[in-house]
Amino acid sequence: MKKFNVAVVGASGMVGGELLGLLESRRFPVGEFYPFNSGRKPASVLFRGKKYACAAPSLEALKKAEIAFFVSTDEVAEEFAPRLAAAGTWCIDDSAFFRLAPGVPLVIPEVNAAELGPSKKLIAGPNCTLTGAAVALAGIHRKFGITELRLATYQAVSGAGKAAMGELEEELKAYFRKGAVPKLKGGKFPRPIAFNLFPQVGGFDEEGNSGEENKVEAELKKIWSDKKIRISVTAVRVPVLRGHSLAVWFKVARPCSEGALRKELRRTTGLKFFEKPGDYPTPLENGQRTEIVYAGRLRRARTAANEFQLWIVSDNLYKGAALNSVQIAERIARL
Ligand SMILES: NC(=O)c1ccc[n+]([C@@H]2O[C@H](COP(=O)([O-])OP(=O)(O)OC[C@H]3O[C@@H](n4cnc5c(N)ncnc54)[C@H](OP(=O)(O)O)[C@@H]3O)[C@@H](O)[C@H]2O)c1
Repeated sequence: MKKFNVAVVGASGMVGGELLGLLESRRFPVGEFYPFNSGRKPASVLFRGKKYACAAPSLEALKKAEIAFFVSTDEVAEEFAPRLAAAGTWCIDDSAFFRLAPGVPLVIPEVNAAELGPSKKLIAGPNCTLTGAAVALAGIHRKFGITELRLATYQAVSGAGKAAMGELEEELKAYFRKGAVPKLKGGKFPRPIAFNLFPQVGGFDEEGNSGEENKVEAELKKIWSDKKIRISVTAVRVPVLRGHSLAVWFKVARPCSEGALRKELRRTTGLKFFEKPGDYPTPLENGQRTEIVYAGRLRRARTAANEFQLWIVSDNLYKGAALNSVQIAERIARL
């Protein structure tokens, strides 16, 4: 089997760590391995039992790779990915920078792998929040035509990276030491997160929507190739370490029974559907190093005849980022 020389930019980060583990556990055929970090502090990573020092990326160093995973920042992806892709290296980018760029496929393999092709060397992976909905509702959308989708998100702190995860842990420790949740200086979050939640993920635009809410809407439309679908979102950060949850309300164009939707959910690729009302997924039980999306509590909504509700859970670091990227690489390897 052909082996690929692989670079991971952001190897020392949250998603980077998961990516390395997945390349190993899924036996991706890695030849030479090149890990990169910011270079601001020394860091090393373990890969296939060997310790590698991380270095700051340069175009020359990255060109040694046939596949480069970008799991760092928007700026780093912007600086290197287009030139690297033009030089012939496959670039799989988990940052937000290229997701909506025309000509850059935004890919969840279970949903739109057909977007991949030999001439499209720069590929984006989507925001971790919408992935669960994009996978779980793909079959229903194809068959019954979702016209409106409302989502309330319950997003884990790891979605904001390693430092944010540390912030929740630090606040909890301080609470158990001193009996109060501290306001940490220079933190990643706008409010304390321990024993709390807040309806803000990213900055707000002039209409009052957060960056995350806008990403979910725009990216979902691109992945489903449907500009007409109406989507509205309230994105909420919750004190969960890992695993994003979604409460969704969707209206379908073609009349259908709840039974027909259940049948579709049962056969949706990459989804495990919990049938019984008391049997539903949670981030702790179903969002930790899980490779599929989970859904439950399907029911008719009482607000409109053609509206239904569903609860969805997925691992933001796996299916929402690292696993999705590795699955893209696995498809590329077969092109
Ligand atoms: N967390 C999620 O659930 C999730 C989901 C989907 C997509 N993403 C995206 O994945 C990317 C990584 O997220 P994360 O959560 O893993 O963040 P993270 O834990 O903060 O890790 C960021 C990584 O990027 C590296 N980095 C920062 N600046 C760099 C630079 N100038 N040059 C090279 N490397 C640099 C960091 O290196 P140092 O250690 O040296 O700082 C670190 O390895 C982001 O673009 C994020 O939007 C994350």
